[in-house]
Amino acid sequence: ISKHVVNEKGHLLLGGIDSIELAKIYGTPLFVYDLSLIRERARAFINTFKQENVQAQVAYASKAFSSVAMYQVMKQENLSLDVVSAGELYTAIKAGFPVDRIHFHGNNKSKEELLLAIEHKIGCIVVDNFYEIELLKKLAKEHDQKVNILLRVTPGVEAHTHDYITTGQQDSKFGFDLLNGQADRAFHEVFRDEHIQLLGLHCHIGSQIFETIGFKVAAEKLIKKMIEWYNEEGFQCTVLNLGGGFGIKYTEEDSPLEPSVYVKEMVVVVKDLVSKTNFAMPEIWIEPGRSLVGDAGTSLYTVGSEKEIPDIRTYLAVDGGMSDNIRPALYGALYDAVIANKIGEKNTENYTIAGKCCESGDKLIEQISLPKADAGDILAMFCTGAYGYAMASNYNRLSRPAVVFVENGNHQLAVRRETLEDIVHLDLPLTLEKEGQ
Ligand code: LLP
Repeated sequence: ISKHVVNEKGHLLLGGIDSIELAKIYGTPLFVYDLSLIRERARAFINTFKQENVQAQVAYASKAFSSVAMYQVMKQENLSLDVVSAGELYTAIKAGFPVDRIHFHGNNKSKEELLLAIEHKIGCIVVDNFYEIELLKKLAKEHDQKVNILLRVTPGVEAHTHDYITTGQQDSKFGFDLLNGQADRAFHEVFRDEHIQLLGLHCHIGSQIFETIGFKVAAEKLIKKMIEWYNEEGFQCTVLNLGGGFGIKYTEEDSPLEPSVYVKEMVVVVKDLVSKTNFAMPEIWIEPGRSLVGDAGTSLYTVGSEKEIPDIRTYLAVDGGMSDNIRPALYGALYDAVIANKIGEKNTENYTIAGKCCESGDKLIEQISLPKADAGDILAMFCTGAYGYAMASNYNRLSRPAVVFVENGNHQLAVRRETLEDIVHLDLPLTLEKEGQ
């Protein structure tokens, strides 16, 4: 509790603003992002590369949370952007994000998506497979353009929270296998093509990672491959992209490292290997998503009904649920929460926080100690900024929440709440006649 900032009323403050006031002004469920935390993280990543004297791009993996205003924050912080669909790309263009710093990912980009990327001359397409190589060569030629690409490779390194595994081959739908000749074949298909400019290699080894070893092993494998191509073909790759995956602290059990630690340790490996060759030091790119926006986000819910099952548990229901945060139901993800208007009161109760979807599995927190809750209290659930709103749905025809940005006592709406009209606005009335009429 001591870690939370509280005002004299015992209310949780977010970005210097009373969270209960925010709930009153904007309604609940509500996502609140404290921009100062996002800026702090972005600067930590960027400054570490500067200190290490390494050319770099830090690209926000916007699948974690994408909206026009969030892209504008990332632009202010001089980040690059990782997008994975026409929808994210279009949003970035609408936000006025510099196209030369947009990187386009995906294992099955459509022709229309590639065309959108080519037309807007975006910075880089991260090519995933042989089908895409053929398609992209054809489209680039038709548009008489030279397209920058990275080849996404699967390095045989898979990292999870506290451990990592290396395998000769990894069962992944993404990228060219580094170890069985696929990546070499892809390289030979692109590096001399007059409409393709190969920049280098990309990999992404996992998400919510607390150790640096996986990144170091992956960096080593990719650099060695680039040096091999340099020695064999005289081709100099200029970019090494090591993806995202840096962990954050959802609960007390989580022990992530500082952004600077992840960066420094990957840089050391690359510098060391490169220094023994004539190969020029490449730019290093990373793609953090969760670690930029995850703990900057807090979900506010209003408490409603309660159901006690003697000797088993007490369900405390809130006005959102798996429709605005599917991570507990989908991944068993753990979160911490407080009653935002009762900070400082003793935790006398044990609750299961239930959502309002018509599904027994719609539980946001399986077990949490809180003060005695009453209907109308505001529950603040922490660290919901990544893959929360981004994965929200209209299941049960619930409206998706509003998203508010706060910073130093100021607040603004970033995404408005869906209305009942929004809920039906794609629907068309029945026009087919009933049989026999
Ligand atoms: N780059 C690539 C190519 C990725 O696939 C991802 C995430 C990232 C970067 C960003 O990873 P981050 O820094 O956010 O860990 N929905 C899941 C997470 C899926 C991650 C997918 N790829 C969740 O809620 O935990």
